[in-house]
Amino acid sequence: MAPLFARLAACVLGLLPALTTAQSVFAHVIVGNTGAYDIDQWKSDIELAASYGIDGFVLNIAPPFSGSTATQMSYAFQAANDLTSELGFKMFFSFDYLGGGSPWSESDVITILKAYGPNGAHFQVNGKPMVSTFEGPSNSDINDWTTIRNSIPGGIYFVPDWTSLGPGGFSTSLVDGAFSWNMWPDGPQNISTGADEAWENFLKPAGKSYMMGVSPWFYTDLPAYNKAWVWRGDDMWYRRWEETLNVLPEFVEIVTWNDFGESHYIGPIYASGIPSASNADARPYVDGFPHQAWLATLPYQIAAYKHAYSSSHPAPSVPSGGDKIVFWYRTAPAGAGSTQATGNNCKSSINIYGYQSCYPVTEILEDAVFAIVLLSNPGTATIQIGSNAATTFQGLKSGINLISIPFSGRYGQVTVSVSSGAKATGPAIVTSPSGGVANFNAWVGCAGSC
Ligand SMILES: *[C@@H]1O[C@H](CO)[C@@H](O)[C@H](O)[C@H]1NC(C)=O
Repeated sequence: MAPLFARLAACVLGLLPALTTAQSVFAHVIVGNTGAYDIDQWKSDIELAASYGIDGFVLNIAPPFSGSTATQMSYAFQAANDLTSELGFKMFFSFDYLGGGSPWSESDVITILKAYGPNGAHFQVNGKPMVSTFEGPSNSDINDWTTIRNSIPGGIYFVPDWTSLGPGGFSTSLVDGAFSWNMWPDGPQNISTGADEAWENFLKPAGKSYMMGVSPWFYTDLPAYNKAWVWRGDDMWYRRWEETLNVLPEFVEIVTWNDFGESHYIGPIYASGIPSASNADARPYVDGFPHQAWLATLPYQIAAYKHAYSSSHPAPSVPSGGDKIVFWYRTAPAGAGSTQATGNNCKSSINIYGYQSCYPVTEILEDAVFAIVLLSNPGTATIQIGSNAATTFQGLKSGINLISIPFSGRYGQVTVSVSSGAKATGPAIVTSPSGGVANFNAWVGCAGSC
């Protein structure tokens, strides 16, 4: 009870945001990729996300609010409303100021928030609808939010992503919290919490909340949009969640549910949502590269984060019979095949964090098979590449474990197993990728209780 009491006391003093709806985990949904959804498809996505412990969707919408964007929002909220009493699943908007060719207009944002803010499926903090952005850092865009806040009866709980301005780049009096898009490593290193700590040091003294980004991967090859780079992913789906235990943000936003063009989707592949324009065709690197098995680690990771934040949440555990091994890898060595992608975002005109140094992709990426093993009791697991000898990992603990083996010149199908019996095989690691063109996306699979 002590931490709870301390937080409530701090809250009364205005030092921390209220506890009630914090410790929620959302997934970022690119509404532009859901243009062909119907209500049942939204329901299916919501039920899937909720079943793995995700509390809600952040709906990324670009202007204008008409046509398929408006239709999809009405479908999404109808679906969530139908399921809300059962699942408690909620949504809120990320107003995308870069995705629509022009920034959002103040009046459109007000219209949307008046329409959906009071909706029973809209996520609220202290009775106010939570609202986020993707960028929108110009002075005029920032000034709009004072008017927007004052135009919504009861106000809003405003947590923008103004990452390009950086911590200290705006006044905390304008916001209730902030979200940082800075969640991939720069160069061949592990993702660190440096940027998260800088944001927290900026926000906490003002009593504002922090929403931390967690992403499993990043690879994009869409030249028509000036996007062709890879950031280190490798074991990040394990490490970044571990980092939430140190950062203890009020909210976590998973990036993303369905951004196929940047290869960080954790939801199902939805064929008509994959960018397929001329010179901006993500199908060659998305088709046949499912990521949905990453969902299977979430119940444990989300429970661990919430418990670390507040012991009023139960400690994470793997139920008896719940053992699983979630494994992922690229299907060819990083140096095999041709590519126009760079290591780091070093050439693109789209760079909201400043230009980065270029690295050869072979320095950024580890040629390795990675796996998260979740066990109800201590045990072992194996990873095998082709017909080579399997590597056995002894002494794994109950709970969550990260294991990996390097390709080391081995090729063939990848087989994994856990001592409690589950076993699965994934596609072959090949000497040369299909068509001789590199694909830096990951294939993700799972064995056991997935
Ligand atoms: C990432 O961190 C782990 C654990 O501290 C360390 O063993 C590993 O070498 C690091 N990897 C890179 C690329 O820095």
